[in-house]
Amino acid sequence: MKVVHSIEALRDQLRGQNRIAFVPTMGNLHEGHLALMKMAHQHGDPVVASIFVNRLQFGPNEDFDKYPRTLQDDIDKLQKQNHVYVLFAPNEQEMYPEPQNYRVSPPSDLGDILEGEFRPGFFIGVTTVVLKLFSCVQPRVAVFGKKDYQQLMIIRAMCRQFALPTEIIPHETVRDTDGLALSSRNRFLSEPERREAPRLYRVLNEVRDRLKAGATDVPAIEFDARKDLTTAGWKVDYVAVRRQRDLKIPTASEVAAGEALVTLAAAKLGTTRLIDNLEV
Ligand code: PAF
Repeated sequence: MKVVHSIEALRDQLRGQNRIAFVPTMGNLHEGHLALMKMAHQHGDPVVASIFVNRLQFGPNEDFDKYPRTLQDDIDKLQKQNHVYVLFAPNEQEMYPEPQNYRVSPPSDLGDILEGEFRPGFFIGVTTVVLKLFSCVQPRVAVFGKKDYQQLMIIRAMCRQFALPTEIIPHETVRDTDGLALSSRNRFLSEPERREAPRLYRVLNEVRDRLKAGATDVPAIEFDARKDLTTAGWKVDYVAVRRQRDLKIPTASEVAAGEALVTLAAAKLGTTRLIDNLEV
């Protein structure tokens, strides 16, 4: 695996390639990321991964400085897995040599709800860096995890609207044996919090079971789910049942008619904010 830090070196490595499969990450790689690399390997050649902790997507009170930076460890994991041909690991000066004043702004009905409501500016930061990374790598396909469901939808819509030649491939959320979705943030959980954390996935499953059993009162289902988490000490940002196709609130008749739904949740356990979702 070649590790390059500049856009010029990246382009030198990739000249003439037209089947590139790309996996952008912010590093601190875990099995979830490695599963994305594996999927990329099945969909294109060569596989390019990036590691860049993107300041633009962090709010003023978020954990940009605290975000784990483990480049050598990440390189070792990728070397061992042997799916990635080039790792692009630029520093901030390389990615943003001047203030990044041109931004990609997702439409508010997709970008300002759910995560966007609780993390203003987050999706502008994500789409801006992803567009820039796509422009550096020029991938034919790119793999994104479904754990960041809204991010995946927004990036797909961006590619469609800008007619980018990159196909977005979703990957199922990778979970620990107790159901907790793998995330770089899990490392911040204390031992008791780590034992409590799978509740989020259990709650999502309960919501799914109720919907599958024919319940249509979405606000009541969301209320019970929030209460379950709050009672166990979580600070809930949202538990929301939405339409898969556009993340809009489904009507009771749409629910009854079998509209494809997804439940999305974000909540804090201690100081660690976890997100998860489950399709119905
Ligand atoms: O999902 C992530 O890790 C980040 O949001 C991404 C897509 C790498 C952009 O910084």
